[in-house]
Amino acid sequence: MRIDKILANMGYGSRKEVKKMLKDGAVKVNGTAITDAKTHVNPEEDTIEIFGEEIRYRKFIYLMMNKPAGVISATEDFSEQTVVDLLEVEDAVFDPFPVGRLDKDTEGLLLLTNDGQLAHQLLSPKKHVPKTYFAIIEGEVTDEDVVAFKQGVMLDDGYVTKPAELKILSSGLRSTIELTITEGKFHQVKRMFQAVGKRVKYLKRIQMGPLPLDESLQVGEYRELTDEEVQMLKEYKREG
Ligand code: URA
Repeated sequence: MRIDKILANMGYGSRKEVKKMLKDGAVKVNGTAITDAKTHVNPEEDTIEIFGEEIRYRKFIYLMMNKPAGVISATEDFSEQTVVDLLEVEDAVFDPFPVGRLDKDTEGLLLLTNDGQLAHQLLSPKKHVPKTYFAIIEGEVTDEDVVAFKQGVMLDDGYVTKPAELKILSSGLRSTIELTITEGKFHQVKRMFQAVGKRVKYLKRIQMGPLPLDESLQVGEYRELTDEEVQMLKEYKREG
């Protein structure tokens, strides 16, 4: 593939800007400066450097973020900070987007990828991919709530939720719980608790399908998925 096309595809500038970078000698392939934009390069095998920094060419990127509260699950926004704003430039050039949404005040596991097919499979309502949340609830969560969530509760718009698994971790004036749901209605967890007269004070997603949040990620940090994790997600989708 032509070097100018590879670099432009990867977001290093327009074809024109990339040509200028080449002309300026900023690009090396296997250690040799390449100035001719028409030079053919094998991005899978050749080592490409820009301003001395090696770039990794690949089509897809898969990131796991421990989303902080206060940022929105979008790629861009006029006034709010987005999860994509938290990415390093070398990851952002792949144009990843969040796989589904977490509310602005929700923390935890958020996948970002540019693999539209995988994102679609994980989000498709037909696949019922389970998502597990940890939450702190204002009020005493009871065994009746466990039964109600298992049977389905009616949200404020009349929608009755699919069976969900509620685990009470501690119960009191403030309770801690884990809840697994297989759908993704707007503000679903908060509205489910609202339906049983309680309020979610803190919400964090801890698992999506087979993938748990890597707890070594500090809030706001992210990492690439391993090849095994990507494979696991792809196979999971097939079992779907
Ligand atoms: N349910 C919610 O209420 N909020 C989220 O961010 C995710 C699930």
